[in-house]
Amino acid sequence: MDIKQIFENNQNWVENQLNLDSSYFNDLSKGQSPDILYIGCSDSRVTAEELMGVLPGDVFVHRNIANMVPNTDLSSMSVIDYAVKHLKVNHVVVCGHYYCGGVKAAMESKDLGILNPWLRNIRDVYRTHREELNSISDEDKRYQRLVELNVQEQCINVIKTAEVQKAYRERNLAVHGWVFDIHSGRLIDLKIDFSEILKNVMEIYRLDI
Ligand code: CO
Repeated sequence: MDIKQIFENNQNWVENQLNLDSSYFNDLSKGQSPDILYIGCSDSRVTAEELMGVLPGDVFVHRNIANMVPNTDLSSMSVIDYAVKHLKVNHVVVCGHYYCGGVKAAMESKDLGILNPWLRNIRDVYRTHREELNSISDEDKRYQRLVELNVQEQCINVIKTAEVQKAYRERNLAVHGWVFDIHSGRLIDLKIDFSEILKNVMEIYRLDI
């Protein structure tokens, strides 16, 4: 890709936006109050705003390899804290995607250097759900299911945090697990029943706030 082209694209975009609304950027500069925090994969094919059809200012976005929320990851923890405590979002979405390279890599035994500790978090998901996953003989289907279970486990990691538990009690903040199917372009709501999961996990992770 020609990097110069990107600046031309940007100039065209600025002109188009200003033609539609001459105060567009002036209004954007006043601040943000997004209602949704989206945590997704860095994969270049999974563009957060475009697939949701939302505009700048609508969604606070965090992306990393395989949409992870590791308990000690300062980056995702800071994003959650800021979005929930300061921006006061009412929805937290963890969005995985089928054909995820990160999840695929975690199913293989390759040594990937610095990526190893990151991918171990996904291997932990596999271990937690080993029985269900090992019972799926079709490898592609097992891979798809691991993508879904990884979303579920990252949602649980979101729920473990103090700020999310507090916002859940104070304003009924909702956590959603979604998968984007690259093959069809469809966004799928996994409709994870958090009430059941919460009963199981909160015994351990509940914080008195
Ligand atoms: Co991915």
